[in-house]
Amino acid sequence: MPWNPKQYHKFQSERSAPFYDLLKLVEVRPGIKAIDLGCGTGELTRVLADSLPGSDVTGLDSSTAMLDAARAASYASSSLRFEQGDLSNLTGSWDLIFSNAAIQWCENHESLIPHLFSRLSQGGQLCVQMPSNHNHISHMLIRETAREAPFDKILNGFERVAPVLSIDQYTKILFDLGALNIQIFEKIYPHVLENSDAVIEWISGTALVPYFERLGTHKDEFLGVLRGKMKKALPESPLLYPFRRILFSAFKARPLS
Ligand SMILES: C[S@@+](CC[C@H](N)C(=O)[O-])C[C@H]1O[C@@H](n2cnc3c(N)ncnc32)[C@H](O)[C@@H]1O
Repeated sequence: MPWNPKQYHKFQSERSAPFYDLLKLVEVRPGIKAIDLGCGTGELTRVLADSLPGSDVTGLDSSTAMLDAARAASYASSSLRFEQGDLSNLTGSWDLIFSNAAIQWCENHESLIPHLFSRLSQGGQLCVQMPSNHNHISHMLIRETAREAPFDKILNGFERVAPVLSIDQYTKILFDLGALNIQIFEKIYPHVLENSDAVIEWISGTALVPYFERLGTHKDEFLGVLRGKMKKALPESPLLYPFRRILFSAFKARPLS
């Protein structure tokens, strides 16, 4: 997908709040091998690496543009490297697998979570944060617009349905994997934005990305229709944008000695 680092950074402080909540769940142990899945432009991976003294941290992302931005900002160091790859095919053994706002782009979490858990070393920790706001009116209006003419034909019937499960389902998956110290919660981040156009600006860096990729020259036309619908649905200014997210942490057992 054509990720755009500039667009993604427009709401940087709002987007980083859940990262710091996720970081609070990390058990700081010296000298661990950690990976940040879907590290994006890397500044938060740098914060993660700085909070893990003596550790060896890898930032993994599939987007060349995001990794180029990370490299240009010189976040890499002797303790932090960036690599390109698909997080759903993660290999290696890790003491900490961390992922902030990325796994919602991967399908089939019923098999993804067990796969990530299988890559933990004994006693290792899995920490994940992902948006669960796919039922917000903005997302419903994107899907509605995509189903309408002329966009249904332009998009070839494409509509993105979020693969994100409920917290009950993640809890069960983790329990069935034998995970220990499971902590899981859903939290609403109440962002105050200027108006519905600001919500569109926000989702232009995330939820709209797969649509932009397919809309080509029809992108502005799609945005125009969406803007009209959003203004009607959310006429207030300032506007409350209640952003719902899931956070969890779980550990792999150590063998009995
Ligand atoms: C919303 S950004 C989050 C970036 C960063 N973690 C942060 O908190 O700012 C999502 C990132 O996940 C990456 N991504 C999406 N699917 C991926 C995949 N299958 N494997 C690796 N990275 C992926 C995207 O390229 C993008 O950089």
